[in-house]
Amino acid sequence: MNSKVTMENIVNLCKRRGFVFPSSEIYGGFASTWDYGPLGVELKRNIKEVWWQDMVTSRENIVGIESAALMHPKVWQASGHVEGFTDSLVDCRVCKQRFRADHIVDGLCPSCGSKDLTESRQFNLMFKTFVGPVENEAATAYLRPETAQGMFVNFQSVLQTTRLRLPFGIAQMGKSFRNEITPGNFIFRTREFEQMEMEFFVKPGTDEQWFEYWREERLSWYFRQGLKKENLRWHHYPKEELAHYAKACSDIEYNYPFGWGELEGIANRTDFDLQQHMTSSGKDLTYFDDETRDHYLPYVIEPAVGVDRIVLILLIDAYDEDEAEGEKRVVLRFHPKMAPIKAGVFPLLRKNGQPEKAQEIRDILQRHFPVIYDQTGSIGRRYRRQDEIGTPYGITVDHQTMRDQTVTLRDRDLMTQVRIPIARLEEEIRGRIKAPDREKENG
Ligand code: GAP
Repeated sequence: MNSKVTMENIVNLCKRRGFVFPSSEIYGGFASTWDYGPLGVELKRNIKEVWWQDMVTSRENIVGIESAALMHPKVWQASGHVEGFTDSLVDCRVCKQRFRADHIVDGLCPSCGSKDLTESRQFNLMFKTFVGPVENEAATAYLRPETAQGMFVNFQSVLQTTRLRLPFGIAQMGKSFRNEITPGNFIFRTREFEQMEMEFFVKPGTDEQWFEYWREERLSWYFRQGLKKENLRWHHYPKEELAHYAKACSDIEYNYPFGWGELEGIANRTDFDLQQHMTSSGKDLTYFDDETRDHYLPYVIEPAVGVDRIVLILLIDAYDEDEAEGEKRVVLRFHPKMAPIKAGVFPLLRKNGQPEKAQEIRDILQRHFPVIYDQTGSIGRRYRRQDEIGTPYGITVDHQTMRDQTVTLRDRDLMTQVRIPIARLEEEIRGRIKAPDREKENG
């Protein structure tokens, strides 16, 4: 783990520079809820775009859907969430606080140390609401605690409309809600979060091999986003710890400043969900195999991750402090494709036509990717401001620009500056975003 990074550094940087703000802050904040600011929202969009490109667009056998966050309450009965999506809770009769039973050590209250604790009780993590004007049992609905069920209940519709054959996948990204008892560690565990999930339907008997395939695919995906290998590892669940629907499950864990914790889960959900929905709805959800002339329920391999967790690990992994141009700096070493802003454009002086020229360049580049124009403070200060938000490239307009239409291009990590004609800037930056090591390779 990078010893320079603490959760405090990350939370402060996020607030100071507009990645993530405490929610409803003008009212004193709202516990464990966060809002994404201008930079955070760009970072999140980049994550979602790269995931969608790699998991859906670039694959012939995976399609996307977007299901409603409010679903028929029977979905959650069939899926087992009404019955089983619970945490065991214990109340302290002395300090009146409530804790997860697995957080109680030696029968003592973790807050006041009292032994006067209640028996544990099951607490369902789903948020309940009412649909329509009457607030009664019949109008009860739940906010979805996972996006996955949207894929199962649409399985037949997708099959019929796409002519996909096994193996194939259905993916979606969207908000999920859980009334977590112990939210915390910034955006690591919150009650409202965004998931990216893909249900990969396979012929029973091939499920173990596809489980291996998706485990490898998903871990290498993180390496491709530039994450450090030593910060990622596997956690394999023993049988007795598996979720009610799973035959096997492995988590990709990340080395957060507060310790190793879950990043993404890859599960073999068998035919549990389709079976449950078939029984509960009375609709035939089987797949007809043209080769074997059999009807059967496919098995499902599911990679599932929270976007907010990827935002957090990208920030932690990228965080660094060093010296640049003789000054201390904080720098986020994002992979350029993840960086919220791709380039800063600076006039060296606020005269001699340099600001106008720099704004012209900004106007050209921002048609293609997010750029920032900055003319305030010394050029060193302006580089520092961009380093701190992870902008990979700095473009400076100087007196030579006005003569020969070239600018300097500074690289955040290599600290090199090369002169480039304005006419070639867009292509050069695009190339580097795709292959940031190109300049290193060229020496
Ligand atoms: N459909 C399977 C499923 O939802 P999960 O392990 O409960 O499995 C999948 O959730 C992923 O969603 C987790 O690995 C994590 O990245 C993210 N996630 C779950 N609960 C979260 C929370 N309260 N806050 C932020 N992210 C969460």
